[in-house]
Parts: sequence; structure tokens; C-alpha cells
Amino acid sequence: MNFIGKRMAAESMTYFKLKPQEFGFKKKTPINLYLKKADGKLELTYKKGSVVDITELTNQTTQEAVPYLYSKANERIIYIRQASYFLEENLHQRKLSVEKKFSYVRSLISILIQEIKANGLDASLVRDISYISTSIYGLINTHYNEMNKITISPQAETEFEDVFLVTILSGAICKYMGWDNQRTIETVLMGAILHDIGKYYVPEHLLEQYQGNTSQTIDLDVKKHPRLGADILDEFSEVSEAVKQIVLQHHECNDGSGYPMGLNAFKIYPLAKIVAFANEYSEVVSDQRVKLKDGFKLFLQNKETVFKYDSSTIKAMVKCLKGEVLNKATGSNL
Ligand SMILES: [Fe+2]
Ligand SMILES: [Fe+2]
Repeated sequence: MNFIGKRMAAESMTYFKLKPQEFGFKKKTPINLYLKKADGKLELTYKKGSVVDITELTNQTTQEAVPYLYSKANERIIYIRQASYFLEENLHQRKLSVEKKFSYVRSLISILIQEIKANGLDASLVRDISYISTSIYGLINTHYNEMNKITISPQAETEFEDVFLVTILSGAICKYMGWDNQRTIETVLMGAILHDIGKYYVPEHLLEQYQGNTSQTIDLDVKKHPRLGADILDEFSEVSEAVKQIVLQHHECNDGSGYPMGLNAFKIYPLAKIVAFANEYSEVVSDQRVKLKDGFKLFLQNKETVFKYDSSTIKAMVKCLKGEVLNKATGSNL
């Protein structure tokens, strides 16, 4: 099947926005930065290569009452690459607060998903995602017991918040289950980042149908997105079979009621079970905009849903929310 690597709505996005506090570059900006002025027009304020003073920038955006910086969409990929290097250098630094680290990861994931939606995946972006997964592994390894410090941003777009939460929680659950080998966690993280990729792409035949009739919206059967996602990833030899299985099975449930294959507990790939649970739980948190702990209580109230996931996964989440410190016997390297 052929895919068009972009979604309609994304085409009109000529700028992307980010908060100055999330702008991680200490020295020169690798992209042109625009500020929104009182008349609503964007003005080039920092040219690529110029030195940015984050405090001054934060003040400026506050003064203009627009808390964002803007940059052209064609520079998004440069931003992703540079922000990934920044994360790699800083995510394991103790002197940077964990809250700040979460906000960098949240922002990078949101911009990454926007890029995939606009231009699809290519081999170099796949390498970036793998690199980002390695950085997030560093964060989880150091801060796995501080996941309860994740705050849910009221302004964040649910879709990006979902990917951020699924990613970070899947990695932490893996750690609490004692599967804390670096490759395993990186695989889970990459599968989680890409879990909904099938939703961002539109198959070519549906696009043709759409172009023939502009009044019709594309009705992409939602239950097909895991399969579409796995098919997209099949085009990239850099993506491991394990990551593809996570994407394919991230809506499978232990009782066989999931999709696309309706697999039962014994047949579901173990790492996919983690992402499937994190996905269901994150949906409660990001839809209801509640704290992680409150979202978990809500999740547990729905007994029918709880039985769809492994009790070992749910127990790992309980430990994670309590911030239990792991000892060597459980496989942690602390
Ligand atoms: Fe999904
Ligand atoms: Fe999701």
C-alpha cells in the first residue's frame, strides 16, 4: 500500500510554536525565531546563529502576552536534531530539575509528531527518533522514581500529551517490571513514540477519493491504524521487528477484545502489553486533565478495562506512582 506522508490539516501549518522555557539552546539559535506582535503579525526577532538570552526572551513573550516563539515549519527538522543533541547532553545532568527535563521531552515529542504529520517519516528522522529514545532512556534510568512529578499541562494538545505520557510511562513501567536492559527500554520508548503513526498517514487511495470530493472528510477506520502504522514502519530497515510489533499490537487486550487481530493474553507481544496499558491509562489522564495519581484511580474504577491488562503491568505502575526506589536485586543499577 502506498502512503502519502502528510495529513491535510498539517499542510497549512507554516509555523510551529514553542515556549521560550522549553527552548533548550544555551548559545546560538540554530533556527530563525519570530515573535508575535500586538497586531498579530510575526516579526523575525532572532536570526539563526544569534545568541539568545532566554530570560530576556521569556520577558519579551510575556510582555507581548503571547507565550510562544514561532519558527518556520521548514526549520522544524533542524530544531528536532539540535534539541535531540541538547537532550542527550542534559537529560542525565543532576543539576537540571526533573520537571525541566520532562518539559524538554514533552516539547520535543510534540514538535516531532508535528513533523511526522506534516512530512512523514524518512530514514534520517527514524535515526533521530532512535537517538531521542536513547536520551529518554537516560532520563528514565536516573529519574524512574520521580514520575509523579510529571504535571499535566492544561494548554497542551491532547494528542501530543498522549504520546509524551505513553512514552515516558511505558519506559518507567518497563524499569519497574525489572526489564531494565537498555535495549529493551529503548525499544519500548521507540514503539511508544511511534505507536499512533498509522493515524498520521493517509493511504493514497483514500486521498484520491478525498480530492475527488472536497465536501467529504476522510473516514479512516480507526481500527486500521495499528496495521497501517506497522506497514509504514516496514519500509524502514532501521526499525526493529520489536518496535513494529509494539505499534501493530498497541490496541490488543488480554481478553481478546482488542484490535486489529483480537489476540489473547498468551499471544500478545509482552512489550506491546506495556504500551497498550500506558496508552489506555494516558488517555484517561490527558482527556480528563487530571494528575497521574487521580487518573490511575479513575482507570482502576473501570473494572472491565482493568482486566484487559496484565496485573504485573498494573502493579509496576502502582510502584511507579509511589516512587519506589528499586534495589539491585530487582535489576536496577542503583
Ligand atoms: Fe492507537
Ligand atoms: Fe495513543
